[in-house]
Amino acid sequence: MFKKFASAPRVRHLIYASLLLLAACGGSDAPGPDANLTDKQLLGKTLYFDSNLSDPKGMSCGSCHVPELGHSGTNGGSNGVSLGHLGVETSRNSISTGYAGLVPPFSFLRTGTAPNTRIVARGGFRWDGGGKATLADQSVAALKKATLQNMSDEAALLARITASSYSGLFQSVYGAAALSEQANVLARVGESLAAFQVSPQGQPFTSKFDAVIQGKASYTEPEARGLALFTGKAKCSGCHAFNKDSSNPADSMFGDNEYRAIGVPRNKALAANADPAFFDLGICGPDRPKPVIPAEFAAETSIETFCGKFRTVSLRNVAKRPTYMHNGVFRSLEEVVMFYTTRSTNPQRWYGPAGVWDDVPAQYLANRSSGGVFAGKLGDPDLLTALEVNDLVAFMGALSDGYVAAR
Ligand code: HEC
Ligand code: HEC
Repeated sequence: MFKKFASAPRVRHLIYASLLLLAACGGSDAPGPDANLTDKQLLGKTLYFDSNLSDPKGMSCGSCHVPELGHSGTNGGSNGVSLGHLGVETSRNSISTGYAGLVPPFSFLRTGTAPNTRIVARGGFRWDGGGKATLADQSVAALKKATLQNMSDEAALLARITASSYSGLFQSVYGAAALSEQANVLARVGESLAAFQVSPQGQPFTSKFDAVIQGKASYTEPEARGLALFTGKAKCSGCHAFNKDSSNPADSMFGDNEYRAIGVPRNKALAANADPAFFDLGICGPDRPKPVIPAEFAAETSIETFCGKFRTVSLRNVAKRPTYMHNGVFRSLEEVVMFYTTRSTNPQRWYGPAGVWDDVPAQYLANRSSGGVFAGKLGDPDLLTALEVNDLVAFMGALSDGYVAAR
């Protein structure tokens, strides 16, 4: 299915080109499916789905970040994370690239109002914030990375673009000489890939939620109850924040990009986790170097308080994703909500007989999020009833792009 999908945009590009031709001849003036893209965005889209841009050939950005799957996916992997170069398991779930252009840069900052302020980490690409500074560079990194597309050779990259069906588009965006300007090829590919990701196809804001805040639709009863739970009893919006008073969709990303340890259970199927001493500590590595706390905050906090924390991602299009959390351990939104509602009241359900968090070492247990949805005590009734779990799931479904109002 992934292979078939990867080739589809080229076909779309051809269709679009022929439609333009037809239109020029007076045959049709129907807009092509990519009519809302600029040339650079269309080039970026074509590069995004070109599975010739990997070594060996066969993998594209679209293999792991499938738009129909909420810009995520496992590329055929069955353990919850993507398969990468030569079918080898990558270390993390393919985080969504939808709306990635709206993720702020990584930083430590002070939040709250005096005297109750605290230092938090926010933003940055990847689950651990250790990504590159710009979307273009993050995209190039994926292309070059040996465990992903393994395409770091600029000469080979340029040769593949030159031999492609879209070499003319590349020239029309970057000039007639572009096919001989090897030194610029990576930067140009990165810029185009980023342009596509921030285009109306990467950040469409066409969910039912967006229609409702603009007065164009109304929720079903389960969705409305789910929204009330999301902000009320379940307190999801404390972290998956949105602005209920704004009619501007971009004010409501449903993820504040702050780093937290919510106690996601260990995914025992992952190859790296076969070693009981291995822990993915998010901000503290080992996939990234431990960042240094800025001098102005150093007296107040230490980097150790950030170990085990991962980014609070946007829930837009979350219902389309096949697996959830940085390690892909959950397979459905029902399971995710059950986790939130029973983590504190019935920890054995998630962590085995000991009932103790199994994916952070003991010295970092204190870094966990508590309170709110996690406020229950051992043995308390679950926070949410089965009906309420379904309602929350229904509301999250209203965050999927492509909503078409019923007539
Ligand atoms: C083999 C699977 C795979 C391929 C191919 C792949 N990615 Fe990714 N991508 C991932 C994974 C996994 C992550 C999360 C990495 C982490 O957190 O350590 C990621 C993260 C990202 C992010 C960060 C988004 C965010 O919000 O933090 C961007 C942007 C991205 N990829 C873009 C691309 C682009 C563009 C391409 C094609 C050039 C690409 N990826 C190819 C698996 C893949
Ligand atoms: C204390 C902050 C916090 C609260 C409260 C919270 N979340 Fe999360 N959520 C996170 C973080 C952090 C992650 C990423 C964790 C990871 O991968 O380790 C996450 C991840 C998720 C994901 C997976 C997203 C993906 O793309 O894989 C879903 C779904 C989700 N949360 C739904 C909810 C719902 C529903 C609620 C309310 C019942 C909720 N969250 C409450 C912080 C929070």
